[in-house]
Amino acid sequence: PRQDTLAMIKPDAVEEHKDEILEEIRRKGFSIKNYQETILSEEMAEEFYKEHKDKSFYSQLVQFICSGPCLQLVLSKENAVEDWRMVMGPTDPDKAKEIFPDSLRARFASDILHNAVHGSSSVEQADREIQLLFGDRSAEQVTSSE
Ligand code: CMP
Repeated sequence: PRQDTLAMIKPDAVEEHKDEILEEIRRKGFSIKNYQETILSEEMAEEFYKEHKDKSFYSQLVQFICSGPCLQLVLSKENAVEDWRMVMGPTDPDKAKEIFPDSLRARFASDILHNAVHGSSSVEQADREIQLLFGDRSAEQVTSSE
């Protein structure tokens, strides 16, 4: 089924790798329904990552994601949620380099925290994250690969 997913180019990758990541997004057949480049507030970041609240790395994660501009994108295609996670590769770039060297995290992430990109983990999470970051602006069509 055609789906939307929430992708984010994180502060460690926005400056240097935005163009290459956007190129990969288009090459893999996603259309970009909406996007915005913002510095997330701490409150927004905490809400965004609330499923990780009990993890040891939670406060580091929130700090990192607020540390500079990040680019948030609503991506759309068949099977978008799972396909975007494939394009990103595993959370840990060491593992990504081993098993999926062409993935974005293998190419651009520096470690498991500073891992260049985010993608929603399920269709339900995608709906929640898109609503949280874009609200009613999530349905605008910006570009299309079709
Ligand atoms: P992301 O896909 O955005 O979802 C949660 C984020 O937490 C993840 O990418 C990483 O940035 C971070 N993360 C996950 N596991 C760890 C870990 N073991 N140590 C530090 N950061 C982590």
